[in-house]
Amino acid sequence: MQAVALAHANIALIKYWGKRDPVLNLPAVGSISITLKELFTRTEVRFTEELVNDRFILNGEHKDINQHVRIKKFLDLIRERSDIQFRAEIISENNFPTGAGLASSASGFAALTLASCKAAGLELSKKEMSILARIGSGSAPRSIFGGFVEMNVGVTPDGCDSYATQIADQSFWPLHVLIVITSRDEKKISSSEGMIRTAQTSPYFEKWVDSSKSDLDKMRSAINDHNFEMLGALSEHSCLKMHGLALSARPGIIYWNGITVAVMHAVREMRQNKIPAYFTIDAGPQVKILCEPEHSKKVKEKLKNIAGIKEVLISELGQSAKILEGKN
Ligand code: PMV
Repeated sequence: MQAVALAHANIALIKYWGKRDPVLNLPAVGSISITLKELFTRTEVRFTEELVNDRFILNGEHKDINQHVRIKKFLDLIRERSDIQFRAEIISENNFPTGAGLASSASGFAALTLASCKAAGLELSKKEMSILARIGSGSAPRSIFGGFVEMNVGVTPDGCDSYATQIADQSFWPLHVLIVITSRDEKKISSSEGMIRTAQTSPYFEKWVDSSKSDLDKMRSAINDHNFEMLGALSEHSCLKMHGLALSARPGIIYWNGITVAVMHAVREMRQNKIPAYFTIDAGPQVKILCEPEHSKKVKEKLKNIAGIKEVLISELGQSAKILEGKN
């Protein structure tokens, strides 16, 4: 009863922010993302009678499972579905900083979903796996798939229609994403906490929800038409709208640092100098820059002028999550 899975992180072009049900992790809005080849989580799951408690090892460090309630809850769900009583050992490795706004929860829960289903002998479709991954993290269903992915908002109270689907695979439009790491610290306000506070206190939350459908429709067209300018402009708009919303909560939530802002200005300056690049930022200080492959080296070169950047990675679009080994 052991399996290993690999899942890539994803970055939302049209952002998810806000929950219509925080327990089931049902989103208040749909979202569209791209899967990133260079950022991934590898997770091994083993159900065994030898253990009296679940055990979680992240990046080589033993973690207190009681501090990781979402993982515990997730394993309970797998046990309930598969009728397994055994506790589990989870060994997970991210090849990038954890909890710093680089979507480690997305790749983490997608990899955990695949590995634990395989180890427990649960044969689920990708749609079912994306529903299960959502219980762990609202962005994780999107990491079940590669390329361009949409998370459907759904309307049912049980979330059976709130799952991810692939719009197109990674070969449909081989974009590049530069991942600009401006800090390796864990963020102080988790996305869940930020979303709940925003929905409860921002005067703009309703408007955010109302405007999301049109953003999603336009982004689907931009992808289908390979219209990079439209994809980039919509991504920047959705990112700034999400951060504007978070800033308008009480107390306001600021995920950026000074370097984040410097990179945003630099990207806009690149566009004035005829380099087509657009930024997007999740719940953290890292900036992701979208461009077509022929421009990524030039973009990276331009970033050399900004002091304080820790690292810049260039990623292609990644594949769907997969099982690396497993038996049950
Ligand atoms: O999956 P969570 O709960 O970590 O939320 C992710 C939220 C954002 O990354 C900020 C936006 C998104 O759509 O991925």
